[in-house]
Amino acid sequence: MISITEHIQLKEISNNDSESLFKLMQEVYTAAYKHFWKDSGVWYINAQYSKENIAKELEEENTAYYFVVFKNEIVGNFRIIWNKELVGFEGKKSVKLHRIYLHAKTQGNGVGKALLNWLEETTIKKQYELIWLDAMDEKPQAFEFYKKRGYEYNSHCFLDFELLHDELRKMSQLYKLLS
Ligand SMILES: CC(C)(COP(=O)(O)OP(=O)(O)OC[C@H]1O[C@@H](n2cnc3c(N)ncnc32)[C@H](O)[C@@H]1OP(=O)(O)O)[C@@H](O)C(=O)NCCC(=O)NCCS
Repeated sequence: MISITEHIQLKEISNNDSESLFKLMQEVYTAAYKHFWKDSGVWYINAQYSKENIAKELEEENTAYYFVVFKNEIVGNFRIIWNKELVGFEGKKSVKLHRIYLHAKTQGNGVGKALLNWLEETTIKKQYELIWLDAMDEKPQAFEFYKKRGYEYNSHCFLDFELLHDELRKMSQLYKLLS
C-alpha cells in the first residue's frame, strides 16, 4: 500500500482482484463515458477489464496497477507504464499515465490532483523527464483537469472502435516536461 495523504492510498491490484476491478469499472467507467458509446460502453469494459486482459496488463513489464483508496474505500483505478516513450520525444526518459478513473462520488475532492502530484514527485525522484497520457477531447472534466496541471498537446488521433459515436472519437496525447 502506498500512502499519498491521510485519506488517499494506492493499493496494488493482483489477479485475485480481477472480478472486483471489473465490477468497480463497470460502475465508474459507465458513469463517466457511457454517452461516448452506442452500447453504453459494454463492449469496451468487457474487453479492457476481462480476466484475461487484466492478467495481461499485470504481467506487462515496467508497469504498476493500483486501486485508488479514498477514506478507506476503493473508488477507482490508476495504472502507470514506466519507460514508455512518447513519439516526438525519443531519448527523454518518459512515463505514461495509462489509467486514472475515479468514482463519480469521489470526483472534485482533489483526489485526482493529489495522485498527479504524487506521480510527478515520484517520477522526478526516479529521474524521469516527462509524463504523458491519452485523453478524450470531448471529456472536458478530464481534459481541463490535465490542462490546469500544465499538460500540453502533442498530437491526436481518431479512435476507430466501431461502437464509438463519430463526433466523440478524437483522442489527444498530452504531456508534461518535468523540471
Ligand atoms: C478526471 C479525474 C481523474 C480528475 O480527478 P478529480 O479528483 O475529480 O479532480 P480534482 O478534484 O483533483 O480537481 C482538479 C482540478 O480539475 C478541475 N476540473 C475538474 N473538472 C473540471 C471541468 N469539467 N472543467 C474545468 N476544470 C475542471 C477542478 O476545478 C480542479 O481545479 P483546481 O486544481 O484549480 O482546484 C476524475 O474526475 C475522473 O476520474 N473522471 C472520470 C474518469 C476520467 O475521465 N478519467 C480520465 C481518463 S483520461
